[in-house]
Amino acid sequence: MINLSINSKLPAAGTSIFTVMSALATELKAVNLGQGFPDFDMSPELTGLVNEAMKKGMNQYAPMQGYTPLLEVLAEKVESLYKTIIDPLKQITVTPGGTYAIYTALTTVLQPGDEVIVFEPAYDSYIPNIEVNGAIPVLIDLKFPDYKIDWVAVKQKITDKTRMIMLNSPHNPTGAVLGEDDIQQLRSIVKDSKIIIVSDEVYEHLIFDNIPHQSILRYPDLLERSFVCFSFGKVYHCTGWKLGYCISSPALMLEFRKIHQFNCFSCHTPSQVALATYLKNKEAYLSLGSFLQQKRDYFQGLMQATKFTALPSYGSYFQCYKYDRISNEGDKDLAIRTKEYGIASIPISAFYKAGTDNKVIRFCFCKKKETIDAAVERLSLIG
Ligand SMILES: Cc1ncc(COP(=O)(O)O)c(C=O)c1O
Repeated sequence: MINLSINSKLPAAGTSIFTVMSALATELKAVNLGQGFPDFDMSPELTGLVNEAMKKGMNQYAPMQGYTPLLEVLAEKVESLYKTIIDPLKQITVTPGGTYAIYTALTTVLQPGDEVIVFEPAYDSYIPNIEVNGAIPVLIDLKFPDYKIDWVAVKQKITDKTRMIMLNSPHNPTGAVLGEDDIQQLRSIVKDSKIIIVSDEVYEHLIFDNIPHQSILRYPDLLERSFVCFSFGKVYHCTGWKLGYCISSPALMLEFRKIHQFNCFSCHTPSQVALATYLKNKEAYLSLGSFLQQKRDYFQGLMQATKFTALPSYGSYFQCYKYDRISNEGDKDLAIRTKEYGIASIPISAFYKAGTDNKVIRFCFCKKKETIDAAVERLSLIG
């Protein structure tokens, strides 16, 4: 008998908590505040543009790096938002989603044994993406409860094997955002080093309270050593499209494309054609922060009638809550209990490799008013 068993590259990986919670939410007809996606429709104008592109026959492979007019409008957007001029043909690649852009960036750079600094709680793909490349995640906790980066700890963890630092702002799951002081600290740490930065900025426009988004794209000296990853799904309420892009220096992007061209090669053409037109409407993305801020404020306001205690959220789709006025149980147990009340939520310990439990759970507020109302009505019964 031939032994067909595989030596797993990710032996510890199971089904992600998001999949588990969403499946449970469907099965139990719970209100799903677990996984991060909107439950309202995207722009009919944008779906119309995709339809139009299909009808016009834009249905064959797009160029490997992306549909040129889309790359051009993205470069214009970067210049107008962040005052940095980038070469659309050499510095941007359209990818099937932000997660793929992150994976490709890591795979482009990492060699076995390289160390990568990752802040926890961390989006669930980062650590497996590092490990699958034979590299080593070096984990640093964000400071609880404000989830700021401990730059002293970062300096202490840097070794001659440190190849990357991964950033995420606005941050999933906590809604924390980087400030200018963080950028200065980062600058001084990476200066004169070979450290590459992967900056996950899929929530670029979902930032509140008039805080400016500290994109790496604002800083040409950092962009030179960075892969900055974005998601059209998060910006245009179409997470199911799985379309995003990565911006880097010409030299790094050349290497990124070597990986990309033998994996996905090129992305869905009609969506790219549609986005090339739709992106000219700046209001659609510039209004996103205040649109989501209203949802955050509405959710926070209603939640005051419950026994959950809000932690600050300055960006993203997410709002974290402590529940020390309800119970002392672990966050996974509490998430299971919210599900019994008909609410899917996500325990923050799921975002730590070692399962660190600060007794906090995450709710996604990017939902219709009716969904938020129904959710809070049920949450107010807990405790
Ligand atoms: C921090 C973060 N990065 C990346 C992604 C994935 O983006 P995409 O759906 O475009 O792959 C998500 C989605 O939840 C996210 O929260």
